[in-house]
This record gives sequence, structure tokens and C-alpha cells, in this order.
Amino acid sequence: MTESIKSKFIFASMQKRIKEILSSGEKDYDFEIKGWVRTFRSNRFIALNDGSTNKNLQIVINTDDYDEATLKRINTGACISASGKIVESQGKGQSVEMTDAKVVILGDSDADTYPIQPKKHSMEFLRENAHLRFRTNTFGSVFRLRNAISFGIHKFFQEQNFIYMHSPIITASDAEGAGEMFRVTTLDMKDTPLTEDGKVDYKQDFFEGETNLTVSGQLEAELAAMAFSNVYTFGPTFRAENSNTTRHLAEFWMIEPEMAFCDIHGDMDCAENMLKYVIKYAMEQHSDDIEFLTQRLLNEEKSKPQNERSELNLTEKLNFVLESDFERITYTEAIDILMQSKPYKKKKFKFEVKWGIDLQSEHERYLVEKHFKKPVIVIDYPKNIKAFYMRQNDNCEPGRETVAAMDILAPGIGEIVGGSQREERLEKLEQRMDEMDIPKEEMSWYLDTRRYGACKHAGFGLGFERLVQFVTGMSNIRDVIPFPRTPGNCEF
Ligand code: 4AD
Ligand code: MG
Repeated sequence: MTESIKSKFIFASMQKRIKEILSSGEKDYDFEIKGWVRTFRSNRFIALNDGSTNKNLQIVINTDDYDEATLKRINTGACISASGKIVESQGKGQSVEMTDAKVVILGDSDADTYPIQPKKHSMEFLRENAHLRFRTNTFGSVFRLRNAISFGIHKFFQEQNFIYMHSPIITASDAEGAGEMFRVTTLDMKDTPLTEDGKVDYKQDFFEGETNLTVSGQLEAELAAMAFSNVYTFGPTFRAENSNTTRHLAEFWMIEPEMAFCDIHGDMDCAENMLKYVIKYAMEQHSDDIEFLTQRLLNEEKSKPQNERSELNLTEKLNFVLESDFERITYTEAIDILMQSKPYKKKKFKFEVKWGIDLQSEHERYLVEKHFKKPVIVIDYPKNIKAFYMRQNDNCEPGRETVAAMDILAPGIGEIVGGSQREERLEKLEQRMDEMDIPKEEMSWYLDTRRYGACKHAGFGLGFERLVQFVTGMSNIRDVIPFPRTPGNCEF
């Protein structure tokens, strides 16, 4: 590095941010700060934000130093630099402020057209203005926490010597076998080449075969686990399921650890420990954001009738999860509980309850929010509703065959983690693939791990946005990812 590049880099990275200026309370020093104007009042007081915290630095200017035209340019949303002295604040609400500030406007913001005004905007409005919503308090808190949760996940796995493995984004396989994939092609849609029998000729496509965006990095993670013992992926995954809900995205991020020599119980321990570690980490890093979001949720709930309000506020809920052991039950026990429940007896469930069904959101919510009132891990699901790679349980009651699957259900969210012990026995795996019409020839690379040095192994997938929803208390998944992709919407 040349000397000048090096010193510039140090300058940028050492620059104090508003969070530190306010929390240290240090005073009587000259400083230059850059950020975006939140409000400007009495032609004298600027509330400046730089994204390090929701708290603003108060910048005090001498009105007489500025002409009218310049004062008019200090608008909400404008980008400015301010140089002055950090001193003890004369006013209430902050420990220090900048006084005698010389303000330079770096980027104007037209007050008549800037959409983000200092007032309450609806979530829908802010979604339509997703390119500017970072500049609001709510989204400031959400995306700082999203960052901390992401870093916390890496920290957890790295401290335990897991290898971070990058699984491919374009694949030729459907890991989950659910067929909800986005096709990847360079073929001309208006003039698609066809084979003799009239099918699309993918031989002429870029990869000389059919390809899609990955729905999961698990299969590739399994290959790596058979060499590194413990690995994890953390990347974008894609599902073309047409679910317009508050918990589904077409593009979401997933964390998929895969562990050799691990069974379903070790898998559950890992997931539970990871969730607690990460929640604790995020709360420690950004306690003021958690506090802000807790208050935000309390205000939001004020408009609800008493019986629909949460018993615990956001902070209490997170602390409660940190302190409690997740309940672990079998699928069969879950069905029994549901069939004994009030809503079942009063026919309040929309979907049928009987052994063999896939648990619906209303069932999951009953188990978590009404019955156990804490996170619940359900294991041993019916084989017929789960993916081909899950390990078939031995000694099942005939007609009630199960696999060593586990789902973690979280209050307010439902399924947050889905995982399993994997079928490591080649014969059983091949037999299951045949039953489910999964072409073995195309998956021979996957089957090779069962042919050469196979071992017991397990893993899970954590839906990253669902975890961010849980930690921030945001009710819609579209509000925890910067630019959500959902059916009919791929703006920005
Ligand atoms: O349960 P899923 O489908 O499991 C897998 O993909 C396995 N291959 C994971 C593994 O064992 N390695 O998805 C895992 C998690 C779900 O529990 C959910 O949290 C999240 O991914 N998820 C979604 N999140 C947002 N939008 C969607 N459309 C999602 N689909 C799944
Ligand atoms: Mg699942």
C-alpha cells in the first residue's frame, strides 16, 4: 500500500460515528461529521443522522452566519457535513451536541418531493419507497440488527471450527424435490429450439442441460461435510412458490450447517444453541435498537383489543427464549395434542388434523403460542410428507413410517428451521429415490458420498429472514430484507 492510500484508509475507518460520540459523552473537541438531515427547526437546530444509531446528533448553527437561500437548503433528507465543537448539550434529550457548526451541503433534497417526511408513514408506503426507507428509524434498527445477526451466525460457526462453504447458485438439481424452481436459460424465448419430439432442446442451452436457481445448498454441503466434518453455507436461495404470505419470499437467505458423525439429537442441540447465541449477540450489539423496536411494537399493539396483545413485549420475549429449553416432541405427540385441543374440538381449525397431514401454520401456532408458549422442536415426521434424503426411522409401526426430521417452530413465526438426519445407507436412499421418481443417474455425484466413506450425518436449514423477523418483531417478512422479491414484485 502506498503511504497516501494507507493514511486515507485509516482516516475513513477511524472516523467516529454518532453512536460513539453520544455514548462516550466525551466533550470539548473539534470535529467534522457527515450525515443526513432528519429535521431542521428554528433555523438553528439540525438533527443529523449517520446510520450508526437511531439517535441523532444535534448540530447547532448561528443563523446569522447563513443567508436565507442556504438555510432553505437544509432540508429533511439533505446530505451535509458539519464542522464545529462537540460540547455538553444545553438542551434536554442528549448529553453532547455540536455547537458553532459550519455546514456545507453535499447533496440537496427537495422538500416538496422527498417522500420520507419526519412523520409516521405506513409500512406499505415505505415498501413502495424501499430505496429510501433505510433512512427511517424502524428500518435503521431492522437492518443494523440484520447485519449483527448475520455476523453472529458466522461467529458461532467459526468459533466451533465449521468451514464456511459456498454452494452454487445455479444448479441442475432440485434438492427439496418440490419443483418450485426458477429456470435459468439463455435460450431465445421467441424462438426456442426443439428436439425431434417437440420438447425444448436444452442441449442447445448455455449449460447444455436444464438448470435452475438453487432452492437449497444442502446436497452440496453434504459432499463437503464428508471431508471437513462440519461445514455451513450462508447464501441466497430461491423458491418459485406462489405464496403471498408474511413469511414467504421468492429470494431468501438460508444458513445450512451439515455435520458428520451427528444424529438428529446433535442436530437439534446445534440449532438451539446457535439460535440462542445469535439472539444474545444481536441484543448485546444493538440494545438501543431492540429497545426502539420493543417500544414500536408496544405502540402498534395499542390499537389492538386487549386479548390480542402479546403477553410479553419484544425484549421480554427474546430474554424468555434465551432462558428456556425448547420443547422437544414427536410429530405423533403433536397430533395427539392438537386432537385434544379446544380449537379442534370446537372445529376452529381450517385444515384437517389427523396422523399423516403436513402441519399447517394454524397448527404450529397453536402448539407454540397456546399450548407450550415457547419454541417447540417437532421430530419424526411421516416419511410421505418429507424430502427423499431424510433418514428413515427403524422399527416404525406399519402404516406410520417416519423419518428423522426436525422442525423448529417459533412464536409468531412458525417454522424457522427445518432439518434432518440424512439417509446414509445407500440401499435405503436409492429405494426412496425410486419410490419418489428421482433420477438416480443424474444424482450419482450425491450417491457417491454413500458409496465412498459414508457416515451418519445431519444438518438443518435456518431461514435467515424468519430469524430477523423473530428478533426485530417485524410482522411482515418483506420488511426485514432490503429489497423483497415476492410474486408479482421485483422492483429495485
Ligand atoms: O424446510 P426447508 O425447505 O429445508 C430445506 O431447504 C433443507 N434443505 C434444509 C436443510 O436441512 N439443510 O427450508 C429451511 C428453512 C425453513 O425452515 C424456513 O425458515 C426457510 O428455510 N424458508 C423460507 N423463508 C422465506 N421464504 C421462503 N419461501 C422459505 N422457504 C423456506
Ligand atoms: Mg421445511
